[in-house]
Amino acid sequence: MPVLLTINGIQTQVREGSLLFDQAERVGVRVPTSCQKSGKCKECVVEVNGGMELLSPPTEAERHLKGNFRLACQCRIIADQGQIRCHTMRRGQMHIERHALGLPTSGKPIPLDPCVSRDGDRILIDGMEIDRCGGPIHGIALDLGTTTVVLRLFDLETGEMIADASFENPQRFGGSDVMSRIRYDTEHGGKLLMRTLAGYLSHAIEAFPVDPRSIYEVVVVGNSTMRDLFFRQNVYSIGQHPYRSITEIEMMQGKRSSTSLSDTGRRCLLPIHPRARVWGAPIISGHVGADAAACMLAVDLAHEQRLVAIMDIGTNTE
Ligand code: FES
Repeated sequence: MPVLLTINGIQTQVREGSLLFDQAERVGVRVPTSCQKSGKCKECVVEVNGGMELLSPPTEAERHLKGNFRLACQCRIIADQGQIRCHTMRRGQMHIERHALGLPTSGKPIPLDPCVSRDGDRILIDGMEIDRCGGPIHGIALDLGTTTVVLRLFDLETGEMIADASFENPQRFGGSDVMSRIRYDTEHGGKLLMRTLAGYLSHAIEAFPVDPRSIYEVVVVGNSTMRDLFFRQNVYSIGQHPYRSITEIEMMQGKRSSTSLSDTGRRCLLPIHPRARVWGAPIISGHVGADAAACMLAVDLAHEQRLVAIMDIGTNTE
């Protein structure tokens, strides 16, 4: 009896000696990759829920993975019978609601105020020319959840939303909650969590129906840990009492005036314009992060007269 492989719910029979990655592709499962299966990009993570013993032992390229996570490009089937069950981190498009109901800002025109502006075909950030382009200029709103990542692509001159995308945060191999991710990032060098996420983000951006180089601005929100991991900050202090982001500590020490973060497209490993501004919104405090700040904007808290509470019921609830 041959080995029966179930990957992302699709069943197929597989031969001994074959590569898990190849078998997934053969049945139409797209495994994220940007290293031609060489073990370098770390994007092809799969979670194995059954039949781990039917796979070859982990290789050097998988040293960063624990538990039942493997790189699909590194494991071969080493048995001639049995069952393997696994799934990729990208478990398909999720349904993302596009229109929130009853928000105070709903229906009101939202003033556009991107950091990018145009003077003829000159594209400017803070008055400095970063490109020449006659076509539309685009921006991305990015919400980095511990479990789910959502991107929305906008035309920065008209405010029109052009496309959106979502996927399961591939950093799950570092643990499912923020404390595990902090521990993982502290114990493993190489910024593996950030690099793996950047690979997934790149695939999502490249699938958008615009030239990625016309994307000049990205606004990033997320809880303090997700945001700081993305910007390659040291997250150790968020995991220790009194649970402060390094940006919060630096602000208290007078080393910075805001907890917001800013970097370029190139340094964030994104396939957008290399000089694009990638801006991480400020956090509130501790684990109450930039997603809470975005929520305050969305509900127009500045003009709210009543005493209200904002509750974020996510993977980690604040
Ligand atoms: S495909 Fe890049 S590490 Fe497996």
